Amino acid sequence: MREKANKVTRRDFLRATTAGVLSAPWIVPASVFGVNSPSNRINVGCIGTGNMGKVDLHGLMHQDDTQIVAVCDVNRGSYGYKTATQFLGREPARKWVDRYYAGKKRSGIYKGSDVYNDFRELLARDDIDAVSVTTPDHWHAIPTIMAARSGKHIYCQKPLSLTIAEGRAMVEAVRRYGVVLQTGTQHRSKETMRFACELVRNGRIGQVKRVLTSLGRHGLRTDINTWQPTPVPDGFDYDLWLGPAPWAPHHKSRCFYTFRFSQDYSGGETTNTGAHMFDIVQWGLGTERTGPVEIEDLGSEFPETGLFDTVSRIHFRARYANDVELICTPGGIGGTARFEGTEGSVHADWSSLRTNPESLKDTVIGPNEIHLHKSSDHKRDFLDSIKSGRDPIAPVEVGHRSASVCHLANIAMKLKQKLHWDPDQECFINNDEANCLLSKPLRSPWHL
Ligand SMILES: NC(=O)c1ccc[n+]([C@@H]2O[C@H](COP(=O)([O-])OP(=O)(O)OC[C@H]3O[C@@H](n4cnc5c(N)ncnc54)[C@H](O)[C@@H]3O)[C@@H](O)[C@H]2O)c1
Repeated sequence: MREKANKVTRRDFLRATTAGVLSAPWIVPASVFGVNSPSNRINVGCIGTGNMGKVDLHGLMHQDDTQIVAVCDVNRGSYGYKTATQFLGREPARKWVDRYYAGKKRSGIYKGSDVYNDFRELLARDDIDAVSVTTPDHWHAIPTIMAARSGKHIYCQKPLSLTIAEGRAMVEAVRRYGVVLQTGTQHRSKETMRFACELVRNGRIGQVKRVLTSLGRHGLRTDINTWQPTPVPDGFDYDLWLGPAPWAPHHKSRCFYTFRFSQDYSGGETTNTGAHMFDIVQWGLGTERTGPVEIEDLGSEFPETGLFDTVSRIHFRARYANDVELICTPGGIGGTARFEGTEGSVHADWSSLRTNPESLKDTVIGPNEIHLHKSSDHKRDFLDSIKSGRDPIAPVEVGHRSASVCHLANIAMKLKQKLHWDPDQECFINNDEANCLLSKPLRSPWHL
């Protein structure tokens, strides 16, 4: 239900501040944004409640100023996700939400959240301010663009897009409709990652020469070439799961979690871990709103047959306009980036930071040096952006450019060519074959 304050509804206010329409000396009445005021609340709908959807839902639900009012998943509820014990889908999600809010009520009873199979019904509600989009990669662009069009803020999982064309359309929609989008590249909200990037940006390792990264190997059996179609389980809307992807017979390994290793739905480990790692690389290099100018395969491998057809051995090299190289080597533990400069190096991974010389770790970034956006909680940063109207730490352009590095690499590895990329025009130079891979046809009736 809409609440009125000074004839401006809470949602109008959220929208107007984001779009920069209301600015000082607008005085915010306590009834609108008082810490404990009900009108301070951001109503959230969660789209996709699988493996990561559970994490996103809880991360948003446990904030003081949010209320999860709706959950949506094309799966009613089942096992068969990343681990054998996970029971996920929309009904389990509804239970987490109801249980959480019941615990906060004196009566211990809460039955307030709504459940949807079709995200379009959730997006049609005008009491929802923000959505999380935690669906497989082939289902990021359409819900995001539709959410933006209906004035909803978006927390969209990484990789932002399935293709570079989708990412560009998402950027345009978010900016056009003046909403906030936070990309789910949460490693930016880690102190060590930010500090690593600040060291590099402030010249502590001298002139940067190259960045070495490793994404690891997915380790999945790629020989599922003997797989047979299986009946669609009861309660699973498989046609809507496929959505804009080409029609294909059902098999459980096609869908939950392992969708990431089929090119119709994702880009393999290049986009899975790469969306995080190249995000940090571009943050450190200061290229987060542009991209490399050249990218080439260095001997990658793809499975010859089977359900999982994404690259199994990732090996490529990219070059930026200032001649800094990004090299992604196969193997390794995955999720590492090592910035090498003329005077030292900085090595960052998910949990640690190493520097050479070691004393770099004790460096203090001075007040007149480059300080990057500070966030220690990616979801909090998203919600604060909705209220303040400033960009979040991983805005749509940045999410798009980080995903673009992954997509460019996959295209170069697929074509086994050295490709020349124009990051301003977002097209390959004199290469029609590569340009054809910037988008994918969408199955009717879906379109961007
Ligand atoms: N930021 C991170 O660290 C991180 C970690 C894991 C996954 N992710 C991202 O999260 C996304 C989901 O990955 P996952 O591991 O949770 O996959 P998953 O298969 O476990 O869950 C996806 C869920 O989305 C549902 N779904 C599919 N199409 C839908 C639609 N049209 N509407 C509503 N629900 C739909 C599925 O039924 C499933 O329950 C991926 O893009 C992945 O890259 C990010």
